[in-house]
Amino acid sequence: MIRHLLVIVGMLVISLSLLIWLCRTVDPSTKYGSEVEYNYARYCAGCHGGNGQGGGRIGRFKRFDPADFTTLEFWDKHSDEQMAHSVASGKDDMPAFKFYLNDEKQQELLAFIKETFRPTLMDVE
Ligand code: HEC
Repeated sequence: MIRHLLVIVGMLVISLSLLIWLCRTVDPSTKYGSEVEYNYARYCAGCHGGNGQGGGRIGRFKRFDPADFTTLEFWDKHSDEQMAHSVASGKDDMPAFKFYLNDEKQQELLAFIKETFRPTLMDVE
């Protein structure tokens, strides 16, 4: 009798910890360092790739040809205003994100991209 009880308690403990573990793994704040990282992964990385070079699971198809954020040429040619406009209203195969993300979130993402992928002169030398 006591053995049955132990088995039941054991199973309860295991399923509870499984549940807690599952909740933690789907929570963006534990999987990604910050909300903006999560948003990049969710909305942008499919095309622009985790490394910003445009090789995401959709973006690697030649037809899309997303921008490569890791080249100096890209940053030379694009002003902040122009990029903000492209993200909000879309450009070629990139959808308009104003329907999905508010201004603040778009700005956060642009700042994140700049900080993460823009090469510094030190990288080039
Ligand atoms: C469906 C694929 C796709 C997704 C998703 C996507 N992009 Fe793009 N993105 C593109 C393509 C394609 C271009 C190149 C457009 C061009 O230069 O003709 C581009 C270009 C850009 C540019 C350069 C814009 C310019 O003015 O030339 C920025 C900045 C950018 N994307 C940011 C983002 C951000 C931020 C996200 C997520 C919120 C995102 N992209 C999601 C496809 C995508």
